[in-house]
This record gives sequence, C-alpha cells and structure tokens, in this order.
Amino acid sequence: MEMSRKGFVCGAAALIICAARPLVAAVADVDARIDALLAQMTLEEKIGQLWQTNGKPSQAIEAEDLSKDRSGDRFLADVRAGRYGSLIGRRGADGYNLLQRTAMEGRLGIPLLIGHDLIHSARTCFPIPLALSCSWEPELWRRIGEAIAVEALTLGCNWTFTPMSDISPDARWGRIAEGPGQDPYLASLLVPAMVKGLQGDDPADGRHIAACAKHYIGYGASTGGLDYYAVEMADGTLRDVYLPPFRAAVDAGVATVMPAFHSFNGVPCSMNRYLLTDILRGELGFDGLTISDYQAVDEMATGHGVAERGADAAAKALNAGMDMEMISDNYEKGLKAALASGRVKIETVDNAVRNILRVKFRFGLFDHPTVDVAALERTIDFPAHLALSREAARKSAVLLKNDGVLPLRPGLKVALVGDVADSVREMRGCWEHGDMSNITNTTLLAGLRADGVDVTYSSCYKLDGARNEAALRAAAADADVVVAAFGEYWGRSGENRSVTRIEFAPVQLKVLETLKRAGRPVVAVVFGGRPLALPELDREANAVLMAWNPGGAGGWGVADVLTGLAEPYGRLTVDFPNATGECPKVYNRMTTGRPSEPAGARWSTHYMDIPFTSVYPFGWGLTYTTFDYAGERVHADGDDMVFSVDVKNTGDRAGSEVVQVYVRDVVAATVRPRRELKGYARVWIEPGETKTVQIRVPKARLGYWVDGSYRVEAGEFKAWIAPHSDGGRELTFRLAE
Ligand code: BGC
Repeated sequence: MEMSRKGFVCGAAALIICAARPLVAAVADVDARIDALLAQMTLEEKIGQLWQTNGKPSQAIEAEDLSKDRSGDRFLADVRAGRYGSLIGRRGADGYNLLQRTAMEGRLGIPLLIGHDLIHSARTCFPIPLALSCSWEPELWRRIGEAIAVEALTLGCNWTFTPMSDISPDARWGRIAEGPGQDPYLASLLVPAMVKGLQGDDPADGRHIAACAKHYIGYGASTGGLDYYAVEMADGTLRDVYLPPFRAAVDAGVATVMPAFHSFNGVPCSMNRYLLTDILRGELGFDGLTISDYQAVDEMATGHGVAERGADAAAKALNAGMDMEMISDNYEKGLKAALASGRVKIETVDNAVRNILRVKFRFGLFDHPTVDVAALERTIDFPAHLALSREAARKSAVLLKNDGVLPLRPGLKVALVGDVADSVREMRGCWEHGDMSNITNTTLLAGLRADGVDVTYSSCYKLDGARNEAALRAAAADADVVVAAFGEYWGRSGENRSVTRIEFAPVQLKVLETLKRAGRPVVAVVFGGRPLALPELDREANAVLMAWNPGGAGGWGVADVLTGLAEPYGRLTVDFPNATGECPKVYNRMTTGRPSEPAGARWSTHYMDIPFTSVYPFGWGLTYTTFDYAGERVHADGDDMVFSVDVKNTGDRAGSEVVQVYVRDVVAATVRPRRELKGYARVWIEPGETKTVQIRVPKARLGYWVDGSYRVEAGEFKAWIAPHSDGGRELTFRLAE
C-alpha cells in the first residue's frame, strides 16, 4: 500500500533503500536509521513500541478470522497504528505474516517482535533444559537452539523467551526444570551456546530468532523454594553464583533479557535500577532490550506494594531500565502523565525505543518482516531434528546406579510397568508450547519395542494414586527383569510448581516393595523435572536411570541407554538430596568453622537423621564401564593452571568419562565454597586404554567477588580431579603473588 506515503517517512524509506543494499552496510548504519525513525515518531508511537500485548480479546483468532472478526479488525487497526511493539503468543505462520504486513502498512512501517515460550521445542520436542544440562555439552545446546529457531519461524515467532539462565539450587522450586542446574561455571557454558544457536552468527539470515536470558536475577534463590518469593542476597553471591550465566549470555550477544518477578533485597527486579541499569547495562554492557515478565510491572503495584498502578509504576520500571512491559498497560496508560510531571524524561523513553528498534533491525525484521513458510519448511530437515532429539535424550539420561543388570541383555523378557512409561505427554515435560502435530513422538514402551526388546507392558500403578497389586505381581512373575517407571508427573514441575516433598509418593515405595518381593531385578527409570530424594530406590533397585522429561524422541533415547545401544552419557548438574529438609542442597556450599568433611565428627555441620552427603552428588553419573584415576597432578603454565590425570578404562566396554576439576581457595579473604567446578573434559576411552587428560584452567577463573571487586588471591589452593563433586584425591597448589 501507499508506497508513496511510506516513501516520505524515514522508516519506510530506510526499508526501501535497505532492500537494495548489502546487509553489512545496513547493519553499519542501524543507529542512524534508528535516529531517523525516532525523529518521526509521535509520543504515542514511541509508547506503543514499549508494549507487548497478547492481543486479547482476539489472541486466539487465527489469521483469516483476524480480518473478519470485529475484535480482530480492531486489533489489526491497533497493530497498523503502531500501538504495540510486540506480541506474545504464536499465531501460526499466516497470522504472523498478516500481522507483520499490517504493522508494515502503518505510518512508519515498524515490524513486530512476536515472542513465545518455545523453550525446548517448537515442532520437535527436545528434553527439558535441566535434562539437557546433564549432557555437559554446550555444542548440543547450540545445535538444539538452531533447530528450535528455524522451527519457531514456521510457527510465526521471531523471539523466544529462553534460555532460562537461573542458577537453581533448590529442588523444591518447580522452575528448576527450566534451567541449567546449580553450577555457575557449567551454566555459563551452556546458556551462551543456546543463545548462539537461537540467534546464529547472522541473526538476520531468516533462520534465527531473538533469544531471551531470563529471569534476571536470583530467581532460583527464592526463599523456601517458593515461586515469585522474596530474595535476599549478598553482592558476592549475586556476582559469583547468579550473574555468570547472564554475563555469558550478554557476551554471546543475547538480544533480550527478562527481569524476574521477585523482589531482590527489597526491590522488585522489574524496578531495580541497580540490577537493570548499573549492572546489566553498565557492567555487562548489554545493548538489547529488557522485557518485563508477564504483568510484572503491574505486580509492583498489585502485589509487591511498592508502586501505584499507572504513571507511578511506569516511571519506576522505565527509569530503572525496563524497556518493554509485557501484557499489563502501565506504560500505555501512565507514561504520558509521568512525562508531563517530569518523573520520566523523554530521553529515557527514546532510549528504550532505541533498544527495541535495535533488536528489530538486528534480526532483519525491517528488511524481511514476513516469512515464506512453505519455502522455509522445505529447507528444514525434520528427521534430522528428531534424530537430534533422540541423541539429546540419550545424552541427558543419567545412570545413577547399576549392579550389572543394565544394559538389558538381548533375549530377556522385560516387564514394563507404570503409567508414565506409555505416555507421550509425560515425555515432553513442562513448558510445552510448540506444535508437534506432524512430528513423531515416542514413549518408553515404543522405544523399547523399537530397540527389539521383548517387552510386555501393563500400567499397574499411577505415580501418585491407585495401584493394581495383582497386576504388578503377575507382570513381575512373568518376566526376567522389571523396568519400572517412577518419579513425578510433568505437571509437578515448571512455573509455580513448588513442593514441600521431593520424596517419592508412598504408592511408589509400595510398588518397589512388591517388586522386590517378587524377586526379579528392578530397573527404575525415573521421570520428572526436578531432583528427587531417592534413598530407598538407591537401596532397593538394581539400577536407577534418571530420564527426566526426555522430549518427543525421549522414549527412543531412554530405551537406547537401557539396551546399551547408547552408552550412558549424562552427569548430574544438581545434587539429589536425601530428604526435602536439606533443600537447597548444593555441592558448592560454603565451608564452616566445623566442616562436615571428614564425615562423622559429632560437632560438625550436619543433620542428625540423614547422611550429609547427597544420595547422588553434582557431577555424578555412571557408565557401562569403569574408570580408574591415577597420577593426578597440577602445574602452572603461564596464565593457566594445568590439571592432569591418567584415566584408565578398567571395564570391558568403551565409554566416556567426564573428568571434573574442583578447586578451593584455602586462605581467602572471605569464606569460600568447599569446592567449585573450574573445568572439565569429556573423554572417550576404549577398554583397557589409558588416556592422559589435561584440563587448563585460567588463573583468572579462580577468583571471586570481595570488597567490591573481582579478585584472584595468591596463596594456597586445594584441587580435586574427580568423576564427581564428592570424589577425587586432594591436591594442593599455590598461586604466586
Ligand atoms: C514466566 C516467563 C515466561 C512468561 C511469558 C511468565 O509467567 O515467568 O518465564 O516467559 O510468562 O509466557
């Protein structure tokens, strides 16, 4: 439409010019294009850019209806008028194109960011992030990010609210499922890899989308593991533990950051200038856009009680550094008044608009606002994505215990029991907002059958309810080995799914008892989105495989590990405590005046009724072979410490070991963790073979935040080169002044 009209305004003029120019030139003058566009914008249009709506009441209306329905008409008119900078929710490819065309028809031709929570799936469903973290494999995260991005575009999204970058120490917190685990170093490798996968080297190449590092910050440290709850945190903890994954995301160029719902040291993250401006922009150098969490600006007033709705909330959030408001309309309704009263300066509004437009330019949305979905789909190798999902499920599963019953020997009669073993939905897990209608989805039953196992399935029990004792006994009687599905339903993890019990539901212990009495070996496959307290399972089952919510191809992937078609690969990224009462439980806890190690001292830090060590510690994970560590040593080499160990495969199968380096500062200015992961390497070793593994750790990585700055201290350190966070022989080394 109105090319002539558009030709007069800068945004559209830029659009036309840019189409004829190479991208590099376009990128080089993005700032100039933003300035030119800003100069043309009315205040209403600027405020419009700062709002992300779900388009209610027409959000559910598909493309054709959008043009017919009255509310749809209104919605489109608003889009055309530039009333929104962004929409939340996927609307299908046709809806996307209609909305983008409509936005581009507007006076200034500014495209929309359309975002949705395509967290571990768009079309192909991958394991939940916590599961994926157990691969310890950044490259896997990158590849999955690439797959999600291109698939998301076919669903009409150019933005996804992932990766969740929250360090998650507390198993009670349901959102632990969405994150990269409890360790800052490992998370700082995984998170940026996902950002790179989603955004690509060239975000404007038509195959990538904007990522969002969330929830900034300290969300996983909420008091009592309660969602949305207050967080009190010392600056050192913030910077040493919670900030590193966000820093890594920013360094990787993440386009957007979402502040968390909770209050941080008394000030909601949504209006926390120290976090949003001083640290995020000032220290980390973030130049993308910040988006509030769902209605979080409103909640400063309606929940936290630190603002009034409208102008006050808008001023507090925007002045703190929140560029875009999700869903609620304080900016929309209140910013004009806040500007008029002088509480907000127009430069602050302009700056926020700039941040938003920069992302839109960066992702090529001005130049290519619509997507040719049919053409794009032809370039997507969906079977390869499914294979990647199977690979990811294999790599995410963690073998916690095995007395030799696994891998399942060919020819065995296997009884598979438990309702989740035949449920596609349970494989997928929480935050499942994609469209998997045309993609194969599997179950554990289907996976075992596909791998040629002689398997008989009977549901026998629900994870949290009724069990059929007779059917259970009959299933066991008729089999050589029982594979029993345990754990939690997917609906027990995810947002607002905090619990006070991470122990097994009583029915599962009864099932375990029955199976033990039946005298058949029991292989427990545990599904769920959080660490569970499994001491009984560890005691009673012959083997325990943590399968998590392994995704759409998870049935295959988990079966592959059980049958030995794939070697066990995963290592825990969270501790598995003995009981809920220990939460939050982390391996990198602070030392105390009366440390718990060596164990057994009466007046040491410990609980009277449970062991202090976790049932399975961070880093834990068995394979189908065994490894021996010898000759651990450490030496300095320039700016690095080099940790070496000879690892021998002492079993009769090949396998991969994750050699982990833990360090403790022995004489520090402030109390330090008993151990911290500082490096690791995965190494594949053939039976009988010995490999020397060398892990370089920059000395600069050995510091911490003290007295307002990051400091690496000279003096004595301890180190362990170990297969998990409780293992390894102690080494010492010194850092020179
Ligand atoms: C969640 C975010 C999510 C947002 C949008 C919120 O409830 O906390 O993680 O991105 O909703 O769906």
